[in-house]
Amino acid sequence: MDLISLKRAAAEAALAYVPKGCVLGVGTGSTMIYFIRGLKRGWVRGAVPSSKGTERALRKRGIRVLDLNQAKKVRLYVDGADEVNPSLQLMKGGGGALTREKILASAAKKFICIVDGSKLVKRLGKFPIPLEVVPMARDQVAREVRKMGGRPVWRRDFVTDNGGEILDVHGWKVADPVRMERRLEAIPGVICAGVFGKRRADLLLVGTPQGVEKFISVTGIRW
Ligand code: 5RP
Repeated sequence: MDLISLKRAAAEAALAYVPKGCVLGVGTGSTMIYFIRGLKRGWVRGAVPSSKGTERALRKRGIRVLDLNQAKKVRLYVDGADEVNPSLQLMKGGGGALTREKILASAAKKFICIVDGSKLVKRLGKFPIPLEVVPMARDQVAREVRKMGGRPVWRRDFVTDNGGEILDVHGWKVADPVRMERRLEAIPGVICAGVFGKRRADLLLVGTPQGVEKFISVTGIRW
């Protein structure tokens, strides 16, 4: 089975977890496009998008778009990931929407991550760690990251929806995602790191050739 079909299978499985009438947070990426396509008009009260691209896709589908400030409570957030470890901690930001994604993941009561099986890793870090940075601080942040042993690469010609820039940091195996996230986000000029250590997924749905596998994080949430 190709990756596209596996992404689609995970996305379609997630639709069953969306409560009718809820405020839904909606992530960004190719997997999420299948999820948005499956959302029925009128099923959710409104959706808070994690990017302008997702906002456009939701509007096209006729889904009411809400701003997080209007929404107040987000019942569920659904999003893809670039890597997932066995503790359901994530690497995100391949699409550059990491900051809004992290905000929505932490605002939401429940977080479902949907991926194809190629995203599962023992340790995060094969995928470079995206850092959204304030543009005037880009070189300064890059110097700090080099001092810490990382190899930052500027994602040229890319500006985030927040007006930020992205450094992709290569060369780190992330043994302790919470610590790494804290260290990186403590560098002045870093808006957000793509390591989701503290706010991990509560439920992971993985598209595999054998079907969609389900992994539940030990958070005490009932599904
Ligand atoms: C965007 C992300 C995406 O969730 C991640 O890149 C996965 O994308 P895809 O579903 O296209 O594989 O973090 O910032």
